[in-house]
Amino acid sequence: MSDLLSRDLSRLPDLLEQARASALEFLTTLPERPAGIRPEPPAPLGLPDAGLGAEDALALFRRRYEAGLSGSAGPRYLGFVTGGTTPAALVGDWLVSAYDQNLSNSGDSLATSVEREALGLLRSLFGLPEDFEGAFVSGATAANLVSLATARQWALERLGHDVSEEGLWGLPRVAVLGSAPHASVLKALSILGMGRRAVQAIPSLPGRPVMDPKALEARLEALGGAPAIVLASAGEVNTGDFDDLEAVGQSCRRHGAWLHVDGAFGIFAACSPAHAHLLRGLEHADSVAADGHKWLNVPYDSGIVFTRHLARQESVFRAVAAYLGKGPDLLHRTPENSRRFRALPAWMTLMAYGRDGHRALVERSCALARGLGEGLAASPHYELLAPVMLNIACFALRSGDAARRDRLLAALQADGRVHFTPTQYADRPGLRAAFSNWRTAEADLPVILAALEAAASRV
Ligand SMILES: Cc1ncc(COP(=O)(O)O)c(C=O)c1O
Repeated sequence: MSDLLSRDLSRLPDLLEQARASALEFLTTLPERPAGIRPEPPAPLGLPDAGLGAEDALALFRRRYEAGLSGSAGPRYLGFVTGGTTPAALVGDWLVSAYDQNLSNSGDSLATSVEREALGLLRSLFGLPEDFEGAFVSGATAANLVSLATARQWALERLGHDVSEEGLWGLPRVAVLGSAPHASVLKALSILGMGRRAVQAIPSLPGRPVMDPKALEARLEALGGAPAIVLASAGEVNTGDFDDLEAVGQSCRRHGAWLHVDGAFGIFAACSPAHAHLLRGLEHADSVAADGHKWLNVPYDSGIVFTRHLARQESVFRAVAAYLGKGPDLLHRTPENSRRFRALPAWMTLMAYGRDGHRALVERSCALARGLGEGLAASPHYELLAPVMLNIACFALRSGDAARRDRLLAALQADGRVHFTPTQYADRPGLRAAFSNWRTAEADLPVILAALEAAASRV
């Protein structure tokens, strides 16, 4: 061991104390930090020959970068769909690094049991039937990828091909149907060699980004039993809108199609009696993607894939080698072989706050989105582009083009009280405000509205 490593080892309690103090300083100032920030990056450093040791490396990092980190874990970062980190999830995540378990196989640790247990807790939270098997992955993008890889395996098996063994060479196209799949679903189709353009657009319901179930039914009927993969949304990213999973699912059952549901954040509607009806029909799904680092409020690098076709999923993701276990190990379910102990922060937060805590969080987020929607509808500067269905308000300036919207975003970023990201919806340049952070409270709404009004009158 090098001198520096043995010195750091002997000083580990002090180093961890410094990390704790840094984390606390960051977290206690989070509500006052700029919600989003984009300073000029410093010139890149070279690799030191001698090394600095952990204390100096931490001090250097803090000096160079800490002031430039965003308050995205804080209460008024409303861009994308951004969760924070609950205290229990943070504790769990810190311990993940300390324990440094590899959740590839069950042969040397009980950690895989924590993952299986956490998956059961989530299945219960989401109201998914017991026959859905799951795995933790890095996010909903990976969950969509795993789901569609399994769907592709299924579809081509039906045509007599084992794509995981033989590849896609010379095979017929498979029908992929959807209305407004998330960009990560298209990314998955690109990675899988099916192509982003594989999606055949199903007409949407008027003024909504979801499939017209009658049009889907007609398209499936016309396929005459050929395998099809149907892409449904449980929480469309601009509006939080939902496909009618009951009608879509019935059609898929009738015609033997694969139903994939992207529920990255929307699946958390299941926590709230007021919103759970939006997921009616979820049980028809063949595969479901969900995110941990959004509404579950665990740190980044947490997604969950659920499937009813575990054997097929494993035929795609199986890694066969004499030195790897043959057991029903988790490495055969996901793209990675070596796997982080991602389940622990999720397990911690689920155990710490329970069903009631998650219901309260989801309902508060939805109430905040509704409150913002009402404030915007009453504003002289803004109008809603879609009704607030869940935790997202999608809105635009009443007048002006994309350039004015971009000036508005820049003014809001300079103001620092709140952070939004842009979108394009109903042919209008808009903004989205997504509420999914456990820290966001009623008291943040007037601050958010005041920042919006001030910025609009400046651009
Ligand atoms: C509906 C939906 N699907 C998938 C994703 C991708 O999730 P991630 O960025 O966690 O991979 C998102 C992210 O916003 C989403 O909203």
